[in-house]
Amino acid sequence: MKQRTLVLLKPDAVNRRLMGEIISRFEKKGLKIVAMKMLWMSRERAEKHYEVHKDKPFYESLIDYITSGPIVAMVLEGDRAIEVVRKMMGKTNGIEAEPGTIRGDFAMSIQNNLVHGSDSEESAKREIPIFFDDSEILEYRLVD
Ligand code: CMP
Repeated sequence: MKQRTLVLLKPDAVNRRLMGEIISRFEKKGLKIVAMKMLWMSRERAEKHYEVHKDKPFYESLIDYITSGPIVAMVLEGDRAIEVVRKMMGKTNGIEAEPGTIRGDFAMSIQNNLVHGSDSEESAKREIPIFFDDSEILEYRLVD
């Protein structure tokens, strides 16, 4: 089942020079990057992306963090891509995330956890248009 998922490399990933490492893991796994851009999220865009968390105690801090510097937004495509990306990211809390996962290998925080991936098909459908127009999502074949 081919799926698309929104992945964000958060400001700590950029700041810690981990963009290449993280993108490389997704590429080597076999996921296809069909859209990618670097941007600095506005408060408005951050509030839209994280609207499901607006009543959480960590919401204000989360908005401050995600708007604190540039991020990379990507759309990854592949068979069950949502589940694959979530497995590769590991648990939200870097301290609990398994070694071998992105957060397990590089994060020690629940908030500054380097990467975001849509948690369901419904979330992916809501989140992707917050970052990309249809025309920015490329259809192409990877040649073996
Ligand atoms: P993400 O997968 O992008 O979804 C919501 C984000 O909120 C999460 O990653 C973390 O960056 C952050 N987050 C989740 N839980 C907490 C928490 N308990 N305290 C602080 N930040 C959190």
